[in-house]
Amino acid sequence: MGFQYSIVIGVLLLAHHILEISSRIELTNLKCIPRDEKFILFEYCRIKSVNRTYKYFSVHAKLLQGPVSNITVNVATYKRYNGYKPSLYNFTFDACKFLASKNKNILYNYFYGFVSQHSNMNHTCPFDHDLIVDKVTIGFLNHQATAVLPIPKGDYAVFTRWYAYGKLRADVRVYATLS
Ligand SMILES: *[C@@H]1O[C@H](CO)[C@@H](O)[C@H](O)[C@H]1NC(C)=O
Ligand SMILES: *[C@@H]1O[C@H](CO)[C@@H](O)[C@H](O)[C@H]1NC(C)=O
Ligand SMILES: *[C@@H]1O[C@H](CO)[C@@H](O)[C@H](O)[C@H]1NC(C)=O
Ligand SMILES: *[C@@H]1O[C@H](CO)[C@@H](O)[C@H](O)[C@H]1NC(C)=O
Repeated sequence: MGFQYSIVIGVLLLAHHILEISSRIELTNLKCIPRDEKFILFEYCRIKSVNRTYKYFSVHAKLLQGPVSNITVNVATYKRYNGYKPSLYNFTFDACKFLASKNKNILYNYFYGFVSQHSNMNHTCPFDHDLIVDKVTIGFLNHQATAVLPIPKGDYAVFTRWYAYGKLRADVRVYATLS
């Protein structure tokens, strides 16, 4: 364990203290918006509450023009103050390059980590099948949002924009509250 690592841990502990880092996440909404219906359609896009403690979200998209080997994703995070305002992150990356990379960018990998174990998209390009994110549970989101990288309390939205060959094909938006 190196010096730099200790500093990172120290900063996180301090941030945890000062910012009252959240310990609970609630998914409030999920929206999947096709921007090119000749290219992609959503069969479902939903949050399901089985009971008080067991909730999850799932997405099933039909890819109508595979195989696809050029995908760009923009991820922008918002926090609600008086309406949702851009906050923290806004980045765009080449998904095919990212998936093929052995040394994955830490930030992209953090966001990818929310779905990588629960999706059939976790392979290298091309994609020529339906895209499925299956049952990402609240318990897993809690772990990812609070244990892996603590985030302060508040209402958040994560807007993702999906491009193929430089053209916008779909928007997927996740809304969550950390309390
Ligand atoms: C909630 O549902 C899950 C899955 O069906 C089950 O394993 C769990 O025991 C349930 N919890 C409660 C509190 O009912
Ligand atoms: C994110 O950055 C892009 C490129 O700089 C910009 O066009 C877009 O408006 C930004 N989005 C947000 C939510 O800030
Ligand atoms: C890919 O996702 C599947 C579930 O869809 C999971 O079983 C597997 O471990 C994941 N593989 C990687 C490399 O993340
Ligand atoms: C993806 O397609 C766009 C638009 O055709 C192009 O500008 C870009 O260079 C392509 N990316 C790769 C990695 O080939």
